[in-house]
Amino acid sequence: MSKNLTWHASSITKAQRAKLKNQKPCVLWFSGLSGSGKSTLANAVEKKLFEQGFHTYLLDGDNVRHGLNKDLGFDEASRVENIRRVGEVCKLFVDAGMIVLCAFISPFEKDRKLIKELLDEDKYIEIFVDTPLEICEKRDPKGLYRKARNGEIKNFTGIDSPYEKPKNPHIHIIKEDLNENADMILKFLDRKVK
Ligand code: ADX
Repeated sequence: MSKNLTWHASSITKAQRAKLKNQKPCVLWFSGLSGSGKSTLANAVEKKLFEQGFHTYLLDGDNVRHGLNKDLGFDEASRVENIRRVGEVCKLFVDAGMIVLCAFISPFEKDRKLIKELLDEDKYIEIFVDTPLEICEKRDPKGLYRKARNGEIKNFTGIDSPYEKPKNPHIHIIKEDLNENADMILKFLDRKVK
C-alpha cells in the first residue's frame, strides 16, 4: 500500500446505514466442496431473507470468478487472493448495512480466519456445507470431478488440492433437505440480524 494515501471519513456511518435498513449487517460464509450445495443453499436462504424484507446480496465463487476475480486460477496463491478480495468486498457490504451471503469453497482455514478477523467477529457466521466427497463426485453437476479424475483439470479441490474442514462452524450442514437446512439457518439468524 502506498504511503501517500489518506482515509476519507464519510458523514454517514455504518450504524446509520444499517439502521435505515432496519437490520444488523453480517456475512454468512458458506464453505464446502464443489458440488456440496453451497450455492443452492445460500440462494434458498437469500430468498427467505429477501421475502422477510431484509437487504441482502449473494456473492458466489463461480460468478465472482466471471468478473472481479476472472484473472485468478486455482493454484494456492490464486485461491488465497480470491478469498482475500472477497473478504474486502464483504467488509464494504457490511459497511453499507447489507446481509451478505458468500458461497466459496474457501478450502484453507487461514483464509477463512482472515475474513473473520477482517470483519468484527460477531459479523462472521460460518456455515460448513459438509457433503462428503463421494456424494459431490457422484452429483458432479458440472462434470468437473470427471475431468479432474482424467487429469484434464489440475488442482481440483478434494482430488489433488486439499480441503481443510472448518473445525468450529456456527452451523454444520449434514442433512440433504434444502428447505430444512435453510430454515435452520434462518432460525439461527433470528436474533442476529433483527
Ligand atoms: S475457491 O477455492 O477459490 O474458494 P471458488 O469457490 O471461488 O473456489 O470457485 C469454485 C468453483 O470453480 C467450483 O464450484 C467449480 O465450478 C469451479 N472450478 C474450476 N476449477 C476448479 C478447481 N481446480 N478446483 C475447484 N473448483 C474449480
